[in-house]
Amino acid sequence: MPPHSEAGQRIVPLPVIPAHEGGRAALTCRYRCGDACFHQAPNTSGNPYLGDVIAKALSRRSLLRAGSVVSLGAVGMAAAATSAAATPAGEADLTLGRGRQPKGLQFEPVAPNKLDQVVVAPGYEQAVVVRWGDPVLPGAPAFNPGRQTAAAQAAQFGYNCDYLAVLDLPGEPRRVVMVANHEYTDEVLMFAGYNAANPTREQVEIAWAAHGMSVLVLAEDHDSGRLTPVTRHRLNRRITATTPHLFTGPAAGSKLLKTSADPTGTRVLGTLNNCGGGTTPWGTVLSGEENFNQYFGNADLVTDPTVKAQLARYGLRGLASERKWERFDKRFDVSQEPNETNRHGWIVEIDPFDPDFVPRKRTALGRFKHEAAEPRLTRDGRVVLYMGDDERFDYFYKYVSRDRVKKGNSPAARKHNLTLLDEGTLYVAQFTGDSPAAEIDGSGKLPSDGEFDGRGKWIPLASGNRSFVPGMSAEEVYVFTRLAADKVGATKMDRPEDVEPHPQTGTVYVALTNNSDRGAAGKAGPDEANPRTRNRHGQVMEVMESHNDAAATSFTWRLFLVCGDPADPSTYFAGFPKDKVSPVSCPDNLAFDRYGNLWIATDGNALGSNDGLFGVAVSGRDRGQVKQFLTVPIGAETCGPIISEKRVMVAVQHPGEVDGASVEKPVSVWPDGPGNLTRPSVVSVWRSRGNCRIGEDD
Ligand code: FEO
Ligand code: CA
Ligand code: CA
Repeated sequence: MPPHSEAGQRIVPLPVIPAHEGGRAALTCRYRCGDACFHQAPNTSGNPYLGDVIAKALSRRSLLRAGSVVSLGAVGMAAAATSAAATPAGEADLTLGRGRQPKGLQFEPVAPNKLDQVVVAPGYEQAVVVRWGDPVLPGAPAFNPGRQTAAAQAAQFGYNCDYLAVLDLPGEPRRVVMVANHEYTDEVLMFAGYNAANPTREQVEIAWAAHGMSVLVLAEDHDSGRLTPVTRHRLNRRITATTPHLFTGPAAGSKLLKTSADPTGTRVLGTLNNCGGGTTPWGTVLSGEENFNQYFGNADLVTDPTVKAQLARYGLRGLASERKWERFDKRFDVSQEPNETNRHGWIVEIDPFDPDFVPRKRTALGRFKHEAAEPRLTRDGRVVLYMGDDERFDYFYKYVSRDRVKKGNSPAARKHNLTLLDEGTLYVAQFTGDSPAAEIDGSGKLPSDGEFDGRGKWIPLASGNRSFVPGMSAEEVYVFTRLAADKVGATKMDRPEDVEPHPQTGTVYVALTNNSDRGAAGKAGPDEANPRTRNRHGQVMEVMESHNDAAATSFTWRLFLVCGDPADPSTYFAGFPKDKVSPVSCPDNLAFDRYGNLWIATDGNALGSNDGLFGVAVSGRDRGQVKQFLTVPIGAETCGPIISEKRVMVAVQHPGEVDGASVEKPVSVWPDGPGNLTRPSVVSVWRSRGNCRIGEDD
């Protein structure tokens, strides 16, 4: 089968997209992660990678047993999501199915394509719910790109929506509250005539206001999955790069967090580069600060060798930053305020039901390039967060709270639960393979036992004020978590992105998106958990905690998917026939539907197609049968998937972000068509026939 058959699709002629990390455009590298892939990966530690560790034999049967126990529940989360004309569905290019498909996955897959549309499976409709610049707060002006101001932007939906959470609104039937975060800004796609060498103060302040988060109440349509913003609701809120936040937990007040503007080390303005997130069992929303380093200039002027090493480990380098914010606020000038960088790279918790809640940066969860934080409960009712550090050769972490979650919504329960992320233990993962190292040759060829699999352990880093890392205080462990993990033998991974515990089985799914440096000269080579050199397509891992208890300090693991073109011999789809799956590349955000199927959003498809959303069964005879449900417009990334009974929601991030594109030379005009700026937006998808459930035949 051709890797990306486009039979039946209208192909839009487009500029060639060069292969950067995954299939990402250079424009994405520039604005999203500060050209991270053009620089040496910041992890230069001599820390072992999995291939250095002596493999210990473990039978596949025991692994399967370990993963088969039913867990304590994860998070119950209502789903939700709408506008714009429906687009034609892509034609299926695959002969799928061995009889009836599992519930939740009964749809014809969408073929890979490069259309400037959201393409959904046949029989589905889609519409935009909210776009960049749409009003969020009462009195916000309508979007007017030629007359945009920072004040308007601070009351409107921000740029580049990524994580989505949707929660029921007690007492308000047919309404839900959505939290979206706004990762970064694409100035050349936002401002006509943008001069990157000399941005104006107004442009910079608009960008500050376009970062952060939005809380927005949505009204559900009675007969469809359409959602409409309720723009006058008291819960609607914008959080930006200048909104006051609190530090909490063991590093709050640390000298490492003090600046001239905040001599207490407890208060900070703004949240930056919010990527994935999570929703807690007590109804708050978590958001990960990811590539924060790119906003800071003049790191190269720092001379103290210790500080320089700390900055380098977080990718802080160079002189002028891409956006030149250091010219407009000295806190972004590392040479003037070196500790300001330590105040970003955290998990932020907000309460969407309290518009006055001061967002909290939870220091007990460590500081790195946080992708997301997804919860699960231990057998005795404490909360665990699984967290990826999205950088080549960086690590996979978890946090286990000291105290149990209190049930219910009483003020006392709420107050207690808001302390859970301040007292606990932070761990980093070390993986061991069970096959001989010689069988892991970097080609992706399965070892003789038939699986990439093995076991692992959680290495404690710090608990409260106690450090487990030689030579580092607890405060240092929390603020320089990467350096702490380097010291204890954590396993270098292929960019850990989203992590999602299965709501029924408890197995934890980890998206490892790609790592084009794996096996490069001087870099860590392939190992059983990261088995391909120059890994452009990524893999999805299953982690089974010992005794299926999220509090365990050991686990077993196996690769569920090794992504790419099914015709590529290095790919693996849990053993499912490869001529009957959709090609999938660069897994990023993960979600489960109510039947326990895994849904995978991709970022940076390196197979030449637009990014998409895929569903796949994780158990039963169809385990591994990946099916593409939708694709997003040219240049965009698929983010924040939510799969509910009635609708699928995704955030369409950075449409049109293709090399050479600008306001004057757009590559995408989605969603509003020619003559309009492309606008990152949230989309809802539903069955065309009213009241039909997602992924279920009639
Ligand atoms: Fe913002 Fe790791 O993607
Ligand atoms: Ca093996
Ligand atoms: Ca992501």
